[in-house]
Amino acid sequence: MNIVLRNKQMEAQDIRKNFLSFFKARGHVIVPSSSLIPDDPSVLLTTAGMQQFKKYYTGSADAMRDFGSNNTVSIQKAFRTSDIDEVGDDTHLTFFEMLGNFSFGGYFKKEAICYAFDFITKEMELEISYVTVFSGSQQVPKDKESCAIWQELGVEDIREEGMEDVFWGPTGSSGPCGPTTEMYCKNTQGKDVEIWNIVFNEFFCSGSREALLSGKANLTPLEKKGIDTGMGFERLVMIIEKKKNIFEISLFAQFLELLPKEVDERHKRIIIDHLRGASFLLADGLRPSNKEAGYVLRRLMRRTLVYEYLYKIPAHVLDAILHDLTHEYGSFYAEVLSASGIIREAFAD
Ligand code: GLY
Repeated sequence: MNIVLRNKQMEAQDIRKNFLSFFKARGHVIVPSSSLIPDDPSVLLTTAGMQQFKKYYTGSADAMRDFGSNNTVSIQKAFRTSDIDEVGDDTHLTFFEMLGNFSFGGYFKKEAICYAFDFITKEMELEISYVTVFSGSQQVPKDKESCAIWQELGVEDIREEGMEDVFWGPTGSSGPCGPTTEMYCKNTQGKDVEIWNIVFNEFFCSGSREALLSGKANLTPLEKKGIDTGMGFERLVMIIEKKKNIFEISLFAQFLELLPKEVDERHKRIIIDHLRGASFLLADGLRPSNKEAGYVLRRLMRRTLVYEYLYKIPAHVLDAILHDLTHEYGSFYAEVLSASGIIREAFAD
C-alpha cells in the first residue's frame, strides 16, 4: 500500500490507539497518563512519561504487583515551562503528549531498539534519517551495544553524542538516569527532527541533572536496569502528516482557523498553545494563583486574554475554541471533557 496515502488517512486518534496496541501486543500493560501536577514535590509539573514510574526503577515499588507486568505503555500529558517563551515558533509547545514504553527489569536494549524501529518503519511506515548513541564519559562507557543493534537493523547513519545530548538526567532532585539513543526522521523540508528518545536507566543519580552534568553527582548502578522512552506525539503527527511546522498539523489547524484573520500568525499559535495547556492544567485541578504551578497557569491565561483584548476578538470565539478543544481531547482524556464547563468559565471570568 502506498505509504503516503496510508499515513494521510491516519487520524491522530488512530496513531494513539496504534501505539498503545502495538505495545500491548508485546506484553505491555496500558497505564493511563498521570496528572500534570506530580506528587513529587521537587518537580513543578509533569515533564516526562517516566515520572509516574520513578519508584519502579529504584525498586521502592513493584511493577509486577501493581500492574501484573514489568512492562508498561502510556500516553502521558506533559508540560515544559522552560519552553513558554519559545512558543510561536515552528516547534515549541508548552503542553504536549508523550508516547512512551517502559520496562522495570523486564527487557533492555535489544528489545527496546527493535520495538522502536518496528513501530516507526513498519507501523508508521516512516524512514529513519539517523540515530545517535552515547559516546562515553569518564563514568559511563561508550554504548557499543546499541550501535551494534542499530547496525544489525540496517541503520547506516549512527552518530555519537555526549552527556549533554544523549544521557537522561534525573527529573527533580535525584533519580534514575542513563545513556540514551535517539531516532531522527526528516520533515517535509528535509530537516532532521528528533522523534524518539530511548533511555537505558542503569544508574541512580544522587543529584539533579545540573549536578550530574557538572560532575558533582554520584552514579550508583540500579539493581534492575530499566527502559524509559519518550516520543513527542505532535512531532510524530507532524512527520506523518508531512507538515513543515507543528502548528500545521490537523490537531492545531482546526483551532487556528477559528481565530480572526487579522491576528498575527505567531500570536495565533500562542493563543492556541496556551488555551490547550491551560485547559489541561485546569482539568487536573490546578487554579490560577501567584505561586508555583498556579502562576504558570495564570501566565498562560493572562497572555491569551491580552491578545483577545488587543485584537478585539469577540468572547464567543475563544469560547467556541474551548468547546471544540475540550471535545476533541475529551474523547481520549475524559477529565478534559468533564471539566469543560470549569475551563470555559475560567476564561469567561
Ligand atoms: N524520559 C524520556 C523522555 O522523556 O524523552
